[in-house]
Amino acid sequence: MKLHTPKTLPYIPVAPGALPILGHFAKMKNNQVAFLEETQKKLGPLFWLNAGFGQWTVVVTGEAAHTVMKNKETRSDVMGGEGDRITGHITTDTVSIKDGAPHRRIRGAIQSPFTPKGLTVSEIGALLEETAEKRTSGWKENTKLEILHETSVYALDIIFRMLGVADLDLPLWRKTYNDFVGPWTMIPFNFPGSPRWRSLKARDWMDKEFQKMIDQARATGDTKTMLGAIVHGTDEEGQGLEPKELFANLRILGLAGHETTAATVAWMFIHMGATPELWEEIREEAVAADSPPTSPKDMERFPKIEALFREVLRLYPVINVLTPRRVEEPIEIYGVKIPKDTSVSASLLSLSRDANLYPNPETLSLERWTKQAHRPKPSEAVQFGGGPHFCLGYHLAVFEGVVYTTIAARRLASLGLQPVLQGEIPKPTYMPLTRPPAEAKILLKPNYKA
Ligand code: HEM
Repeated sequence: MKLHTPKTLPYIPVAPGALPILGHFAKMKNNQVAFLEETQKKLGPLFWLNAGFGQWTVVVTGEAAHTVMKNKETRSDVMGGEGDRITGHITTDTVSIKDGAPHRRIRGAIQSPFTPKGLTVSEIGALLEETAEKRTSGWKENTKLEILHETSVYALDIIFRMLGVADLDLPLWRKTYNDFVGPWTMIPFNFPGSPRWRSLKARDWMDKEFQKMIDQARATGDTKTMLGAIVHGTDEEGQGLEPKELFANLRILGLAGHETTAATVAWMFIHMGATPELWEEIREEAVAADSPPTSPKDMERFPKIEALFREVLRLYPVINVLTPRRVEEPIEIYGVKIPKDTSVSASLLSLSRDANLYPNPETLSLERWTKQAHRPKPSEAVQFGGGPHFCLGYHLAVFEGVVYTTIAARRLASLGLQPVLQGEIPKPTYMPLTRPPAEAKILLKPNYKA
């Protein structure tokens, strides 16, 4: 697909510091948040960015980001398809790169287990609770947690367990999955031993395993578990998924729902570990309840913990700049004409830290959410996107974060411990999602109030 570049649209300014081949990758790796904010301040609300390997996209900040996400004049087919040498091995046939009727068909077929009702029917609350209990059961005084690793294992185990992977097989699935989606697999060279080669081998292995699980769900007529609901899922017209679509979309769930949730929950612990007063508020709320939340609705009992999830995600949107869209019908944004076949990317960061929407946007404040008269709506969670591709896992992600934090806080309280961040609050790193650095550590110390 031939797309515009700064050469063909020179009237849009280019973000500074692009390197040959890597583009702005190095700048973003260093601190994507600061890079995007400084560039917007310097160049205004629209600028060219090169994500590496010649992938040029126009970053659209502020209100107009919603125009991009609505997908009225834009399409999601920039990434994916066999023609995409960077991510095609992961995104082909997935819901993320489809539009219109094909998108509605795939999304319609897989969405029911992700709704609050679906999550309640498949008793995901019990699974989250069990997984979090297991991850935190060995914690004791002076345990040092590499917090991102902790939360990553939790988030990935949940997805695999929801899909019916046996507990004993989880370590092998984790390893295989990391081979499949590791960031180096984006380098488009495939030779024996290369990351891309390992990714394709991992993909074949997972598909064989999925096939066994699918056969079993079909044989038993299971529609209650998440895997069963997806295997038997249909859209409003009764159409299900083609076999290759079923595999692709089962695989993408791990990618979409793993690092995203893990990074957010890790930031929650980093902030609690850096601010004893915040920890105290969260601890009190977790201990005051009789039990962790059992369903998305039941999260009402944990307004502060849910608020912390939303606040850290607002401060550090895991996806600062949304996967690109292709302009299909020419559009005008902030008075600038953007022609057909330009790649455009909505800046979720610019909306998340917009001072008009969030006074003192750099400050973490639970009250932004707890003082609202209503429960936060999906439309107030722009970090999960907007328009037809709004995150399918939204309810699950918030639920996962609240259950984990509640259980971890209750465990620490019962041991008289509190989380203490080692060092300063770290800068976010980027690869290609935004997350805390892997080295960020939390030490479990006696509670200063105990
Ligand atoms: C904090 C956690 C999460 C964040 C911040 C997040 C963010 C996002 C965003 C921004 C999009 C929109 C992408 C676009 O428009 O191009 C998206 C889509 C999606 N997310 Fe999430 N996500 C999270 C957790 C999850 C979880 C737990 C799952 C499921 C296991 C999930 C599954 C999906 C899927 C399948 C899509 C594609 C939907 C479509 O294209 O119709 N996400 N997510």
